[in-house]
Amino acid sequence: MANLFITGGAGFIGSALVRLVLDELPDCTVTNFDALTYAGNLDNLPGAEATGRYRFIHGDIADRQAVLAALEPNTDAIINVAAESHVDRSITSADAFLRTNVLGTQVLLDAARERRVGRFVQISTDEVMGSLSDDDTTFFTESSPFAPNSPYAASKAAAEHFVRAAHHTFGLDTVITRCGNNYGPRQFPEKLIPLLLANAMRDEPIPVYGDGRNVRDWIFVDDHCRAILSVLHKGRAGAVYNVGARNERRNIELVEAILTQLGKPLSLIRYVPDRLGHDRRYAIDPTKIEQELGWRPRETWQTGLAKTIQWYQQNPRLRNGK
Ligand SMILES: NC(=O)c1ccc[n+]([C@@H]2O[C@H](COP(=O)([O-])OP(=O)(O)OC[C@H]3O[C@@H](n4cnc5c(N)ncnc54)[C@H](O)[C@@H]3O)[C@@H](O)[C@H]2O)c1
Repeated sequence: MANLFITGGAGFIGSALVRLVLDELPDCTVTNFDALTYAGNLDNLPGAEATGRYRFIHGDIADRQAVLAALEPNTDAIINVAAESHVDRSITSADAFLRTNVLGTQVLLDAARERRVGRFVQISTDEVMGSLSDDDTTFFTESSPFAPNSPYAASKAAAEHFVRAAHHTFGLDTVITRCGNNYGPRQFPEKLIPLLLANAMRDEPIPVYGDGRNVRDWIFVDDHCRAILSVLHKGRAGAVYNVGARNERRNIELVEAILTQLGKPLSLIRYVPDRLGHDRRYAIDPTKIEQELGWRPRETWQTGLAKTIQWYQQNPRLRNGK
């Protein structure tokens, strides 16, 4: 039996992780600790309560007392999925990003030590490594230098430094995952793919930043969650694992492919002024997690996208957020 304390379990990736654990790991219990910000929605967890192995606690990871009160001494692992996650919001104001992503991570690390939690898994992002050049054939590896370019990425990089320091200074058993762009059901419709699907289904314009040629490395959310569980169970203490599905796409090609699949005209596309400091290309080398832990993505771009589109078509209310 493993008792998991998952933060941010009402969000896009966190809820996929909670559902996966409850579905596939019958010996695990889950405490979902989530502040229910604009991005958190308990409707993302249908049937969780009925398993008898799940409890929800409404709380803020930056609130030390609330975290200590919620964290039971028999907790085997904390998986820190909670974050402010949208780059555009961090450009408008970084305050919440500092509080949740940096202070919140440190509070959880302190609480993990105090409660003698077995393992701490930090969900990070490839964005801590900055941007690769457009015509490049290089990839992010675990030893790529830190070069965060947005306030969001800077806050996630800072969080990683505190996780590393907790391992080095106090011997806390920590592991970090750095994943690329996730797609799948239940993503808040401010992000590219759900925004595109929601607008396209209503025949509304699709905003595309700059020249649309920015490259992102896409992974189906359940594949990311399976990678998190591999790292939880088999990752080396103190290690970092890049997570990617070798699936680089230019934004404009992705938008055109999805519009075509939906039978919608490309005339819905509207180029808008580029995001400030917009990273050009992300591309992940996942060799380490593949070779060390035997993880592989299960979905192809085609199968993952089909599942995603089908879900948004069948859930018109949820695809628009709360
Ligand atoms: N979405 C991606 O493509 C992607 C890629 C790589 C890494 N990540 C990382 O994965 C994690 C989850 O991303 P997501 O897309 O699911 O985010 P999300 O915005 O969909 O969900 C975030 C969740 O965290 C909760 N939360 C926010 N602040 C909190 C706080 N102070 N205390 C407790 N809960 C709080 C929200 O209520 C929400 O449920 C983040 O750490 C993000 O950096 C995301």
